[in-house]
Amino acid sequence: MTNHLTVVKHPLIQHKLSLMREESTSTAVFRQLLREISQLLAYEITRDLEVTTKRIKTPIQEMDAPVLDGRKLALISILRAGNGLLDGMLELIPSARVGFVGLYRDEETLQPVQYYFKVPDHMGERLVIAVDPMLATGNSSVAAIDLLKESGATNIRFLCLLAAPEGVARMKEAHPDVPIVTASLDEKLNEKGYIVPGLGDAGDRMFGTK
Ligand code: URA
Repeated sequence: MTNHLTVVKHPLIQHKLSLMREESTSTAVFRQLLREISQLLAYEITRDLEVTTKRIKTPIQEMDAPVLDGRKLALISILRAGNGLLDGMLELIPSARVGFVGLYRDEETLQPVQYYFKVPDHMGERLVIAVDPMLATGNSSVAAIDLLKESGATNIRFLCLLAAPEGVARMKEAHPDVPIVTASLDEKLNEKGYIVPGLGDAGDRMFGTK
């Protein structure tokens, strides 16, 4: 991927995202839409994966058929909201390895606090896709990518549903080598660090908490 930021403007994604933004959308529908969008975004973020060929035999004849090359990619969910994107992506890439980064946001300082970290081995040999629905201040995303780099990852991409300009700028400054794929670049952050117009708290909306 060459661009630092890719906004996927596919009509299906945009339509589903509008439904997700609506306050009246139920938890069950929100979760289902997130699953669907995550697959469409996964399709986009993996479009340039390396392929090699494998000799196979169809019922008609032998051929050199394209298959994914290299080590299985690693999907890293930034807890807890990242799990909403992870589920759908795993349906599309079932052999992916999975890791988790547990960070919560201190609501006063807006700074990330780490409470869990577990990732697959050989991180330096995998394409690593970190997922978190909301790129807001960028503080937790930057911290998560710092940890992934410390674990050896060198080829990292970041997938989110919504991004705020502030978060994109923060990521570009801290991790210019990490391309971001999102369904929307929203307007701004409000004084509480929420994305505007956004969709509220993604974790609360997908898990039905408050
Ligand atoms: N996290 C969320 O869930 N929503 C926002 O708007 C910002 C951060």
